Amino acid sequence: MPHNLPVLDLTEEQAKRELTRLAMVLSKANINYHSEDSPELDDATFDSLKKRNYEIETRFPGLKRPDSTSDQVGAQPKDGFAKIRHSQRMLSLGNAFNHGDVEDFIARLKKFLNIAPNQKMLMTAEPKIDGLSLAIRYEYGKLVHAVTRGDGEHGEDVTANALTIANIPQTLIDAPDVLEVRGEVYMSHESFSDLNVGRARANQKSFSNPRNAAAGSLRQLDPRITQARPLLFFAYAWGELSAALGTTQTEAVQCLASLGFTINPLFAQCDTTEELLAHYHKIELGRSVLGYDIDGMVYKVDDLSLQSRLGFRSTTPRWAIAHKFPAELAWTELLDVDIQVGRTGALSPVARLAPVTVGGVVVSNATLHNEDYIAGRDGKGSQIRGGKDIRIGDWVQVYRAGDVIPKIADVDLSRRASNSKPFDFASKLKLEGIEGSRAVGDAVWRYSGSEPLSDLAIEALRHLYQGRRLILKASEPSRLNSFIIGAGFVRQLKFLPSSSDLVLITCSS
Ligand code: IVH
Repeated sequence: MPHNLPVLDLTEEQAKRELTRLAMVLSKANINYHSEDSPELDDATFDSLKKRNYEIETRFPGLKRPDSTSDQVGAQPKDGFAKIRHSQRMLSLGNAFNHGDVEDFIARLKKFLNIAPNQKMLMTAEPKIDGLSLAIRYEYGKLVHAVTRGDGEHGEDVTANALTIANIPQTLIDAPDVLEVRGEVYMSHESFSDLNVGRARANQKSFSNPRNAAAGSLRQLDPRITQARPLLFFAYAWGELSAALGTTQTEAVQCLASLGFTINPLFAQCDTTEELLAHYHKIELGRSVLGYDIDGMVYKVDDLSLQSRLGFRSTTPRWAIAHKFPAELAWTELLDVDIQVGRTGALSPVARLAPVTVGGVVVSNATLHNEDYIAGRDGKGSQIRGGKDIRIGDWVQVYRAGDVIPKIADVDLSRRASNSKPFDFASKLKLEGIEGSRAVGDAVWRYSGSEPLSDLAIEALRHLYQGRRLILKASEPSRLNSFIIGAGFVRQLKFLPSSSDLVLITCSS
């Protein structure tokens, strides 16, 4: 049975089989995402499968499986950490994918609360941080424990690790006797890229995105490892309290800020659906320069007494919803593959694409990681993209999320030219006159020539970062300064005051 058959066309028998298949796919994805910190499905695909599962269950309620993911939040806590029971369950959020879903959500709220459709109702809108949620309990102003979401009932005790996060206060002044602050732990793009550079140097597997890096870093049995990985925390919610923080969401979040927590600066109050959507579009446009990943916006009813009237469904509050940013996918032609020399000497293949707009941004380059990735296998030899290799001339699907360098998500084999040839890394290097070698057990070809590496690397950056800003680490800033000005592709250059060896440059197109 094709997996994309519309839900309305499914027979009962097909629906049952589809629910079984989805249960397997979703539970595996859930474990990979929450417990192993290495998802195989991208978020948009995961969300759409979960939605399909929910729609089939709604059409055939009798077929709902006892293990349905619709009733689950996260995954079982990882072994090795003490488990702590949450004083109040840590829930998930319902999703909206388009304007219509947001309008339906607002209409549902008003109907529930007996508010006329044209009457204004104050809402809040804030970024949905793409990290992992954490509950931090304070008693009499002292941090007593910090717990991950886990399965929503029980989480992992990561107190020692949370104490290493610079913007989580360890003591509070004038706080309620019992205060459980909830929010998101995340890693900035800059820390993520530094971490991966270090891991590549140490021949360790790199993290695929900042969320996985944050999750992998917080859930370390040795807190010294967490300490070495700069994590940050945004406070946006609370659990058990001995005294109210305010009468509205806005007041409560302000109160958390005054107690010393970092709250997101893009928090806004909106009193119409139009204002919510305008804020969503503004943030979506600016998300690539935020410096951390967000995957949507969260809208909440501002008045806390209305929130408690609305209450909860089994795993989600009725008074809030996540409005996800659209999946950033587009098809285009792979024109060529270039080899770039990285700062560490790694020779990285880069896809040159026929320009295509992906999520509102024109993309003409994508990373191809390494020789194995092009061949359709990962470092362990397992298939990726269903084992499809990538060839020059192929029609490829480009995926771009946030500020990460675009990737090739898929290849359309039905459009492949009959005379196309697999990409040959070694021949390409020879053709380009780049000296390189690949050691047994190393996924990466490495530069083995005699030209000074820093000059090569900087020249290579020109292609990859056309029109974008990047931060370079220079061991000899003055030499780098004269080189990049000489190279003539820098529009703007600034030494970052925080560190003498960081330079911010803007590359011209
Ligand atoms: S409010 C009752 N606000 O998204 C649930 N959640 O998909 C209250 N998240 O589990 C959550 N940013 O980990 C809220 N600004 C934000 C958020 C946010 C990220 C996460 C959170 C939650 C997940 C739901």
